[in-house]
Amino acid sequence: MAGKRIRSIGVLTGGGDCPGLNAVIRAVVKTAVNRHGLEVWGVQDGYLGLIENRMDRMGFNDVSNILTVGGTILGTSNVANPFRYAVQSGRQIQYRDLSNDCLRVLADREIDALICIGGDGTMATAAQFAQKGLTIMGVPKTIDNDLYGTDVTFGFDTAVRTATEAIDKVHTTASSHHRVMIVEVMGRYAGWIALYAGVAGGADVILIPEVPYDLGKVCEYVVERSRRGKRFSIVVAAEGAKAKDGQMVISKRVAGSPDPIRLGGIGPVLAEQIGGRTGLDCRAVILGHIQRGGTPTPHDRTLATNFGFTALELLMKGVKNHLVVLKNGRFSSIPLRLVAGRIRTVPRNHSLVRAALAVNTSFGT
Ligand code: F6P
Repeated sequence: MAGKRIRSIGVLTGGGDCPGLNAVIRAVVKTAVNRHGLEVWGVQDGYLGLIENRMDRMGFNDVSNILTVGGTILGTSNVANPFRYAVQSGRQIQYRDLSNDCLRVLADREIDALICIGGDGTMATAAQFAQKGLTIMGVPKTIDNDLYGTDVTFGFDTAVRTATEAIDKVHTTASSHHRVMIVEVMGRYAGWIALYAGVAGGADVILIPEVPYDLGKVCEYVVERSRRGKRFSIVVAAEGAKAKDGQMVISKRVAGSPDPIRLGGIGPVLAEQIGGRTGLDCRAVILGHIQRGGTPTPHDRTLATNFGFTALELLMKGVKNHLVVLKNGRFSSIPLRLVAGRIRTVPRNHSLVRAALAVNTSFGT
């Protein structure tokens, strides 16, 4: 496909849903049709739609009124990997490589390039397709904000707002009942949501996967607060947070998923442990998928629109097999192969970590 003029594109959304996906789809479709006169195919349910040959032509009418709507009108899947597709065979799961079938589906429909909107898993698969000759442009999505190569992903700002509002609400119960309230937020291997929402919500303790905590230190900190007359504490914990000598809390394993581990439950575990050790009254709240829902913030709508527009502009200029990124305030792109298999975690010397420490927030160390 190298060097071939692009006349028709496909667009898909992969991985977990996230506020702003529709804003990207809208920008991609409108820019493609309006500025470049392209044919656009909307692939349903991420890579599953490629595997099952499910896609529809898209025009202006299909993307009107979706800018403010959460989720994705195309549907998504975080279990369908065309290179390792799980097929149930009796009681066993067998894995099949269906990537060539997907390429055939695209060729039959004369689709010249694919816009893949997704996180690390989606980009890893996109990079594999690129190696097989497909022209790809990636757009960085995830509430976790952990995609390598970009300073920010769309969806993160909305998730932080949702989590911050939840922390604000929990504050009143904490202070009225003199409790330790633990708010568990998403973030498997990166604690960006916990860090930003924790600082914004004035959390006393922030626990992130990058900084394994010492339970004794967390308990000392909340007890010391109550000694000083602060009879409540707020602990914000990323779902991937773990004790120095402990493990992440796994809620379930999803067979066939590229990353089969689903986390969840560190909040209740901490409530039990802190309550047991300190005698303080503790409660946990797990925010879960609430963080992935709702209307995107203005920041995420504009970021998503810029990402979608930039993806099309770069593709039509001949850039291929790249991920659109925002780096130091500038929209550009980097090769997909640099992104695949890597994530962006919170550096221990990040300015917000230092600011949090300066205002006496504990990271449990
Ligand atoms: O990667 C996004 C994310 O929301 C993670 O923060 C979370 O651990 C995971 O997806 C949940 O996945 P699922 O929707 O399959 O439960």
